[in-house]
Amino acid sequence: MQKINILAIVGSLRKGSYNRQLALAAKEIIGDRAAFALLEYEDVPLMNQDIEFPAPEPVKRVRNAVKSADGIWFFTPEYNHFFPGVLKNLLDWLSRPISASEPQVLAGKPAAISGVTPGMFGTALAQDHLVTLISFLNMKVMNAPRLTISYAAQQLDGQGKLALRDSYPYLENQAGAFLDFVRRHMQGK
Ligand code: FNR
Repeated sequence: MQKINILAIVGSLRKGSYNRQLALAAKEIIGDRAAFALLEYEDVPLMNQDIEFPAPEPVKRVRNAVKSADGIWFFTPEYNHFFPGVLKNLLDWLSRPISASEPQVLAGKPAAISGVTPGMFGTALAQDHLVTLISFLNMKVMNAPRLTISYAAQQLDGQGKLALRDSYPYLENQAGAFLDFVRRHMQGK
């Protein structure tokens, strides 16, 4: 059977992002069980229908990356009880049909959601909003398990990096569950 291809979308553009670190930890956990890449999308412009056609090069690139992925794993921060605007902007671009004959690339893709915050609610509210949006876009959401990590500061190493002491087994569990979820989807079950 072909190797599963997972694309991670991190809802933060910050270099030291905890959510980016969480995505990299997931990549390490998945190891050689699947291909796993982080989507870089800092150069995707703000959605503006005046520039929608022909699609800007960064938009073509992210669409192709999503199109060739078997599953999308979101790692999102929470901004004001919502997911960040950069992620909404990306999803707005991805939500549009490529042409009259080619549909949007998110429909039917399996999706997992995780998030980490220094605050107390572990990105749960942002995740719920994200579920609403990606369900509308017809993604197949794995609602359980989702991963919400709060109080990130309590899980840092000496260098200020996310060490995930308590949360590591939950991330391992979610990684295994998502690979199964994607596999079942690919087998049409
Ligand atoms: C935040 N932060 C935040 N945290 C939270 O738990 N709930 C929230 O509603 C908000 N709101 C919020 C708004 C804005 C505009 C910013 C910039 C930040 C804090 C946020 O969780 C924290 O900065 C994280 O570290 C951001 O994630 P990354 O960049 O570390 O992945």
